[in-house]
Amino acid sequence: MKLSYGRMFSDKLDGQHGLARAQLNDLIQRFPAVIAEVDTRRQRGEYGFYGLGDQGDVVRGIKKFADGVGQAYDHVLVLGIGGSALGMKTLLSALRPPAWNELSDEAREYFPRITILENVDPTSIAGALSRIDPRRVFVNVISKSGGTAETAAQYLVVRAWLDQALGPDAAVRHLAFTTDPAKGPLRELAAREGIAALDVPPEVGGRFSVLTPVGLLPAALIGIDIERLIQGARKALDEAQRPDLLNNPAGLYSALLWAADAWLGARIHVLMPYSDRLRDFAAWFVQLWAESLGKRSDRRGQPIFAGPTPVPAVGATDQHTQVQLFMEGPFDKVVTFVRVEEVDEIKIPTRPGLPDDFAYLPGHTIGELLNAEQEATSAALARMGRMNATISLPRLDAGSVGELIMFMQLATGFAGVWYGVNPFDQPGVELGKRLTFAAMGRPGYSREGSVTLDQSLPSDLAGA
Ligand code: PA5
Repeated sequence: MKLSYGRMFSDKLDGQHGLARAQLNDLIQRFPAVIAEVDTRRQRGEYGFYGLGDQGDVVRGIKKFADGVGQAYDHVLVLGIGGSALGMKTLLSALRPPAWNELSDEAREYFPRITILENVDPTSIAGALSRIDPRRVFVNVISKSGGTAETAAQYLVVRAWLDQALGPDAAVRHLAFTTDPAKGPLRELAAREGIAALDVPPEVGGRFSVLTPVGLLPAALIGIDIERLIQGARKALDEAQRPDLLNNPAGLYSALLWAADAWLGARIHVLMPYSDRLRDFAAWFVQLWAESLGKRSDRRGQPIFAGPTPVPAVGATDQHTQVQLFMEGPFDKVVTFVRVEEVDEIKIPTRPGLPDDFAYLPGHTIGELLNAEQEATSAALARMGRMNATISLPRLDAGSVGELIMFMQLATGFAGVWYGVNPFDQPGVELGKRLTFAAMGRPGYSREGSVTLDQSLPSDLAGA
């Protein structure tokens, strides 16, 4: 993985916009203190995801579990939301062929199909259950807290569907929970009913958990090489220990995005992979960056109402939707491209009677066109004075995806220090969860107050 960041600086842009080289020196001077703060906090038990490069036993255990399960089922149904779903969606689209569920058994090498239900939209749930054979499904319910309303409701619906088709005793064999090792309703249910349960390490937060059993079990079930995922993550972790900013890619990336926001007001951070297979990765990044850094208070409890706004895009498609705004709109954005060097070869053929206007295409490949468009967009943004950086992956495989995921998690952890916020809590999300409980009549939550919208009109409009 390589990070190209020259086009963050005004001397590579239009000379007017972008960071000054002197500001990079400032960031370099400050970085040892950032690393030191991360180290101190790690010793206090924060930054638990740093331990995910060393999971030999977990990986072996999951592979054994998946091998046993894999023979008996031909569909995996994942129930979860937010950090308990987006990571697995990323792994599926990045590391399995497109339209996985439509492939024949042979093309899938007899690994199961997979459905990830991440919402409580009744149409999606009914649609999924009508397509899946309950006799051949393995259901993985994922919730770190074990108590999230959406996942609990999904579980109850799916459990009733299983019970009805198979009987309650057999249904238990079709289930595994991934949840906190000691507490929460799912853990209790697992113990009471004898349902298999895997642990989410308590020190790893939901949006940082894709490289725990949260993502590793479903990934292993559909044949993703989870050992290589972790190896890739370890590479990013090793590089993140270096106090020299220019040799610490995740540190450098976090520093540049923070400086663009804090010093130049570029608080919109676009992530634009040039790959359909990384579309879900962009969605995963949006959650990671938004939920970790969008905070009303700093570490000392002082109000700051800080946080960059992440925006997902996909190249080349979004060149024809959002890029006009990135090129000519306000100077409030940084665009990060992700490109993949080695892509499938599809040659663009020639044909008789080819219009002159198309004659430049034959002889090239579709992948060349995709990557040329990425370079052209980066260069065009630079010409317009727009900051941008590019992450290049040699190819999309388990090692590079593990490295990319951990790179972003590390950058988020460093960004927490630059922004002065706790990147691991989410009080805003928790408030929404509590008000949902109140709205649904959960005992003990009535003190959260009413959530009903006041629809009364001002008196001068009421008669209109
Ligand atoms: O990152 C987070 O903490 C959240 O997005 C959670 O993943 C999400 O709210 C789901 O929580 P849980 O896994 O406890 O059901």
